[in-house]
Amino acid sequence: MNGGIFLEKFDVCIIGGGPAGYVSALKCAINGLSAAIIEKERFGGTCLNRGCIPTKVLYSKAKFLKKLKTPERGFTINGFNFNYEEIIKYKDEVVLTLTSGVEKLLKARKVNIFYGSGKIKGKNGEKGFSVSIDSKDGSSAEISADNVIAATGSSPLMIPAFNIDHKNIITSDEALSLNKIPKSLIIIGAGVIGCEFANIFSEFGCSIEMIELLPSILSTEDKEISRFIDKNFKSRNIEVKTGAEVKSIKALEAGAEVELVTGEKFSAEKVLVSIGRKLNTSDLGLEEIGVTMDKRGKIETDMHNETNIKGIYACGDIIDGPMLAHKASYDGIIAADNIAGIIKEKDYGVLPWSVYTNPSIGTVGLREGDAGLSEIKYTVGRFSYAASGMALAMEEPEGFLKVVVEPETKKILGATGIGADIPELIAEIASYMHFGGTVFDIESTIHSHPTLSEIVPEAALDSIGEAIHKFNPRTAKKA
Ligand code: NAI
Repeated sequence: MNGGIFLEKFDVCIIGGGPAGYVSALKCAINGLSAAIIEKERFGGTCLNRGCIPTKVLYSKAKFLKKLKTPERGFTINGFNFNYEEIIKYKDEVVLTLTSGVEKLLKARKVNIFYGSGKIKGKNGEKGFSVSIDSKDGSSAEISADNVIAATGSSPLMIPAFNIDHKNIITSDEALSLNKIPKSLIIIGAGVIGCEFANIFSEFGCSIEMIELLPSILSTEDKEISRFIDKNFKSRNIEVKTGAEVKSIKALEAGAEVELVTGEKFSAEKVLVSIGRKLNTSDLGLEEIGVTMDKRGKIETDMHNETNIKGIYACGDIIDGPMLAHKASYDGIIAADNIAGIIKEKDYGVLPWSVYTNPSIGTVGLREGDAGLSEIKYTVGRFSYAASGMALAMEEPEGFLKVVVEPETKKILGATGIGADIPELIAEIASYMHFGGTVFDIESTIHSHPTLSEIVPEAALDSIGEAIHKFNPRTAKKA
């Protein structure tokens, strides 16, 4: 791309190189389609560059730090230091390794890479959709494709009264690149991002105050888990103010000040705003071509991820469903397969997710209190980490797993829990659910001993009063 316009024709043009876009591009190539991908920054999107992966590096370091501060029984640690700048450098190296790995994979699969901002210009009969690419250096180009996949993701939500200046009033993007830990931090929004950052920064010695609009933190999680984290945070002196509405935020010479609608004021060295994300669907030429979107810019798609305009697909955060990287990649595969004539309908029925607090949280399918269970009879089985040999050996006795079961068929409807490595246990349950598995399928699967995975059959069997290493007089089967 060097200033001039050239035209090249592809089977598919993907706009956006995050987990939806790059996975979709690779799958198109695997399916034998000629594919072009347009990315304006670095491959990997929010997940690899500013989300899942960099936060997990910091999460892992924070967990290590916790072990140093409160070592396992039998150990005394006589002083230690950490260099946060080095930690940030390591995080950047991990990000670079993964993002450049994605680029190498795309090249190896012969996906044509274009750097710049992609925009659909229109449809031109046999030539398909024309897509312009404007790069940062001012050059531009145009390609055409029979199909276009929009996969442009989301970015932190900004509210004018919050005056985000990216210095003292920041979003998760900047929070990941601070070279030193602030002395104090106010986090607005105690959702997934807010709680993951509260866990990390508090471990590194930052004094944290969280302000949440709703009556509880992590309000979309299971109520018991939300209370567990609330208690965990309070025990670590993380102040949590719920049911509080922020009126405005203003930057001070040193720091920033938050004012609530009640007039109460709080100040700190930095304020992190994590109140949700907005969809990156403007300026893609979608409206002009007639793609149906709602007021927030969310794109309507069918079961194949195709929009109302034949040949235009959309995947990831910009369509229905939770904003999760793995859901975005799944969307990308659905679109790539359908374009290649491998007809598949999407199904988000078994969609696991995790929250990386310490301990971590994992969920799949239905939980007690979910609307999907209001009309259905169900039982809940439960098993504690404190009763697992492996958890005790690891000195990780905190937490539990709950499994929701359909009483007549004993089919697994969902599971949620909190505890060490729980996302890995949830991954196992998701596999059973994908194949319509029951409590007995779990029971008849031999689980290696000693592993945390033994918690899975115990929790499932407890739903019918048959857990081996638990006696619950309320649910236990009468002889
Ligand atoms: P979120 O929707 O999870 O949480 C935002 C929180 O801010 C909510 O609790 C909301 O009640 C609160 N809030 C909204 N407006 C407010 C205001 N004016 N004042 C105070 N509180 C306010 O959004 P978040 O944390 O920004 O995350 C965005 C998305 O990213 C999530 O949907 C999640 O799916 C995804 N994500 C997933 C992760 C994972 O899977 N581990 C990690 C991080 C993000």
